[in-house]
Amino acid sequence: MRPFVLLVASVAALGGLLFGYDTGVISGAILFINKDFALSTKLQEFTISVVLIGCMGGALVAGWFADRIGRRWTLFVAGIIFIVGAIVSAFTPDEYVLLVGRFIVGIGIGFSSVVAPLYISEVAPSNVRGALVSLYQFAITVGILAAYLVDYALASGGQWRWMLGLAVVPSLVLVIGMIGMPESPRYLFKIGQDERARDELGRIVEDRAEVTQEETSIRESLKLAAAGPEALRTPQVRVALFIGITLAVLQQVTGINTVIYYGPQIFQMAGVSSNAASILAETLVGTVNCLMTLVAIFFVDRIGRKPLLYAGLAGMFVALSALAYAFSQAHLSGSLSTIALGSMMLYVGCFAFSLGPIVWLLISEIFPLPARSFGMSVSTLANWVGNFVVSQFFLTELHALGTPLTFGIYAVLCIVTIAFIRTMVPETKRELLEDVSLKVSAEAT
Ligand code: BGC
Repeated sequence: MRPFVLLVASVAALGGLLFGYDTGVISGAILFINKDFALSTKLQEFTISVVLIGCMGGALVAGWFADRIGRRWTLFVAGIIFIVGAIVSAFTPDEYVLLVGRFIVGIGIGFSSVVAPLYISEVAPSNVRGALVSLYQFAITVGILAAYLVDYALASGGQWRWMLGLAVVPSLVLVIGMIGMPESPRYLFKIGQDERARDELGRIVEDRAEVTQEETSIRESLKLAAAGPEALRTPQVRVALFIGITLAVLQQVTGINTVIYYGPQIFQMAGVSSNAASILAETLVGTVNCLMTLVAIFFVDRIGRKPLLYAGLAGMFVALSALAYAFSQAHLSGSLSTIALGSMMLYVGCFAFSLGPIVWLLISEIFPLPARSFGMSVSTLANWVGNFVVSQFFLTELHALGTPLTFGIYAVLCIVTIAFIRTMVPETKRELLEDVSLKVSAEAT
């Protein structure tokens, strides 16, 4: 792989870093915002969830932008939205303007969650596409970890404005960086700028023969469907959309964000007594999440997407079953508490090399070029809706069903996910990007 390609993917991955940072930072900041503005419980919950509402809105329109102004400028716009959102949030005079700031941040996250993996997938040579899109997931996990650490470091002074405002730094790098980045050659072919498209493709793929091969496959894919929602008339696109939406929802309903958002509370239920210790344990979760994503970067193009998904989901199933068992016992202490903590780490570690990166990767691969940004928008929207439902109702669910049953349900959903992948998802390792959609089409007809 050329260093240039790695640079392009790394700049785009900053969109992931901001995604992670801005979703993670509020858990610590809210304690101090609450002190300053004396928020009611309802307003407190809304300050947390308004970001997710912004994410849904952003995801919904990002695909349209990516088709109109291109992938590169959509990511640039995402960076500008992140800057505006961070500034409004950090300088807010009251709790209501803060809601506006966080909503804007959410739109930025929604944008980048569609267009960053889309752009990376489209500029990546096929033999490293999995690794480069996984780099985006790695950036998400670095962002989450950085948010935990910043919250921890600034907690003694209660500096929540700094916590929210610091996101300006990577946003600026993203904006400036995107000015120097190339447009996706796929997008250029799509809008008929063939000369420029060929040049950009030549900068990415070293081998001349491969450039020609890529072009042929892109041209085939362009014939497959109409652009945007019109593409739904094509049965193949409907199949891809079914796969994309289902995978995106399964990534959420197997419970990851209960641990990412409510980790400290779960740790306390598992017997960690002090606040400081549970925040520290959450930092450990963040570190495991980050490090285990490297496993995906290393293996996803070597052994393939599906074997990693099976291994990760099997591990998540074991971990969730052990959690359900531990919480079903009358008293969680001693070895049971160790089992519970170990299971949470195992669960996050297994997600990090499987469902985390590979869902983003697959939804960036399965759509034919004309319908890709539309398909990614809709699938990503489904991901945010799933995220919203799981995270909003987690505490209610614990209360109504009990902890063992809650984790038990997530465990069963891991098995459902394995079955779905076995029957519906194609292996896409090292395929030319557009050949993947041709393969989905062949299977659909
Ligand atoms: C998911 C997020 C999650 C994160 C955790 C992402 O792939 O979409 O919802 O918070 O992984 O690392």
